Amino acid sequence: MRVMVIGCGGVGTVAIHKIAQNPLFTEILLTSRTVSKCEKLAEKLRSKTKATITCKPVDADSVGSLVAVMKEFKPHTVLNVALPYQDLTIMDACLEAGANYVDTANYECEDTDNPEWRKIYEKRCKEKGFTAYFDYSWQWAYDEKSKKAGLTALLGTGFDPGVTQVFSAYALKHYFDEINYIDILDCNGGDHGYPFATNFNPEINLREVSANGSYWEDGHWVETKPMEIKRVYDFDQVGQKDMYLLHHEEIESLAKNIPGIKRIRFFMTFGQSYLTHMKCLENVGMLGTVPVDFEGQQIVPIKFLKALLPDPASLGPRTVGKTNIGCIFTGIKDGKEKTIYIYNVCDHQESYKETGLQAISYTTGVPAMIGTALVAEGIWKGPGVFNCEEFDPDPYMEALNKYGLPWQVNENPVRVD
Ligand SMILES: NC(=O)c1ccc[n+]([C@@H]2O[C@H](COP(=O)([O-])OP(=O)(O)OC[C@H]3O[C@@H](n4cnc5c(N)ncnc54)[C@H](OP(=O)(O)O)[C@@H]3O)[C@@H](O)[C@H]2O)c1
Repeated sequence: MRVMVIGCGGVGTVAIHKIAQNPLFTEILLTSRTVSKCEKLAEKLRSKTKATITCKPVDADSVGSLVAVMKEFKPHTVLNVALPYQDLTIMDACLEAGANYVDTANYECEDTDNPEWRKIYEKRCKEKGFTAYFDYSWQWAYDEKSKKAGLTALLGTGFDPGVTQVFSAYALKHYFDEINYIDILDCNGGDHGYPFATNFNPEINLREVSANGSYWEDGHWVETKPMEIKRVYDFDQVGQKDMYLLHHEEIESLAKNIPGIKRIRFFMTFGQSYLTHMKCLENVGMLGTVPVDFEGQQIVPIKFLKALLPDPASLGPRTVGKTNIGCIFTGIKDGKEKTIYIYNVCDHQESYKETGLQAISYTTGVPAMIGTALVAEGIWKGPGVFNCEEFDPDPYMEALNKYGLPWQVNENPVRVD
């Protein structure tokens, strides 16, 4: 089976390791903007896999550049682990070249001052009631085209989004007649020793964290100020952490696809030092996305900040501790209310030993490979555009155990108030 991967950063590196471990994939094409990163990784993996690995540079902002590479390689499935900015160009190219499409994050516009995008964005904010720069409407709009082309597009198969939705489908299938409440808890108990660094692409990460929060309740969005809602939770194998309510993309699709749902919230843990650094950077304008003139050069502050911060891909050797990510579900089974918690614990150093990357990249890259494999095998098959909770969760859950992200179910968890 021929698979093409676009992007060779933190998440891509783990996904490519895992693709190379899966005998389903016999021909692997690694593509990215900086092809030397692909070549370095290919060199490392060739002795560990029977698959052939080749590399090509690609500009994923250009449909033409993508189509040329795809038409030559003829991938069955394309895994997009570049940036959310490239989702639409890659989806367009897949349709043109006749390939299935898989990604880990929904479309986000790079230039949020683009007047055309802004008009649609402002209309959506009014109609839907949340102000995050990303939403699924852009990619769900490809459903008809994908159906006509007989192709499958699987959106958001990382951990969150991704596994959290598979956990939801699994809970619904095996534990509940109806799920009413979902709390998604994303805890990183890792320590990299730097005063400030982000665990994945700083630009994407800081844009997400500094935005308003929101949650879904009784059929509509409730928006909060950034970090307005805080809870403390005692996580298995990590301990007690502060966590804050954020807007997160899978809330949008779960609200659409889980019948009987009354509330969905997403919490992520942050230490006080991270929040103080971020607030300070925001206050001085370093999170800005609009170019500013500096000594005759146009500089985008957040891009400049990215250049100063440690590369997330370099955090692997220094990060110790564990992540614990999962969902607490409350619903009804046989007329009685019950609550369960499904979660995975992942160790930063174990992830590093296997792939050279810490657990944040690992917990995204493994599910990226699993989603790609299920689409490639036709076990998750359209045609159309799908989110992870729309397919049978069982083969995905089995693959999580097999490929390094074993999960557990606690049938008597502490709930979040
Ligand atoms: N669902 C989840 O749980 C989850 C969690 C974390 C991250 N993510 C998503 O995973 C994706 C990858 O994140 P990451 O941390 O791995 O990012 P990253 O380290 O910045 O890697 C991005 C990769 O994409 C390449 N790239 C960027 N623009 C490109 C272009 N125009 N053409 C070709 N290649 C391009 C980069 O090339 P260069 O090397 O030249 O820069 C780099 O190899 C993002 O979409 C992120 O939002 C999802």
